[in-house]
Amino acid sequence: MIERGKEVGFGEVLFDVESPGGIRRIFVGFVEKATEDMIQEIYDFEQFMYKSVDEDTFQGRDIEELKENFKRNDDIVIIKNKHNNIVGLMIFMNPPDDYYQLAVDCGLDKKAVEKTSVVAVLAVNDYFRGLGIQRYLLRLADRLAKENKSQYLCATVSPNNKYSLANFLERNYEIKAEKIKYGNKNRYILLKNVEND
Ligand SMILES: CC(C)(COP(=O)(O)OP(=O)(O)OC[C@H]1O[C@@H](n2cnc3c(N)ncnc32)[C@H](O)[C@@H]1OP(=O)(O)O)[C@@H](O)C(=O)NCCC(=O)NCCS
Repeated sequence: MIERGKEVGFGEVLFDVESPGGIRRIFVGFVEKATEDMIQEIYDFEQFMYKSVDEDTFQGRDIEELKENFKRNDDIVIIKNKHNNIVGLMIFMNPPDDYYQLAVDCGLDKKAVEKTSVVAVLAVNDYFRGLGIQRYLLRLADRLAKENKSQYLCATVSPNNKYSLANFLERNYEIKAEKIKYGNKNRYILLKNVEND
């Protein structure tokens, strides 16, 4: 079993945290690459997330967009609990993708844009928050970028999303721009050069 805080990968992962109040929480998650037959399950998880998050912070993908992700061989990473329910999700999009504009927003030139992957969706069921799942997924994104020979990683985050923003900054993402995205949502555009890690 992989222990949180050590190497990252797929399979069984132990999340073990102690809150400042001294309460210890342990969770065994199963980190997998989703397969196409899970599209409905992923979509349902996103819909569930919309119910529990501030609408401003989370942007999921619809069924057609998810199909597109699978066609493009993007990495859709899920974390399941022992009851086989999705509790965490990350969509890692390889270049060139329809979010390429983010790399342009960050001031990258055409050549660099083609070496940019995007962490497009990140979400954790509220019952499982604070266990370090997002931190783990961001470390996994770094690994996927290296495996896919991407030099840069881009993401968007609401300036009000303090936990997510703090986790990205901790992984050496930098705020490169602030723009309106997804119709009407204010977003920081974040960029990381994976080669600097
Ligand atoms: C943002 C989000 C992905 C964070 O996921 P997570 O797995 O709970 O985050 P982590 O446990 O890895 O976060 C680590 C840090 O944030 C803190 N944290 C995260 N969520 C917290 C919460 N709800 N309450 C208190 N602290 C929280 C942790 O305590 C920890 O900080 P510490 O080490 O200083 O104690 C999750 O809250 C979420 O899904 N939110 C809704 C969707 C969303 O905003 N997605 C991100 C889009 S960019």
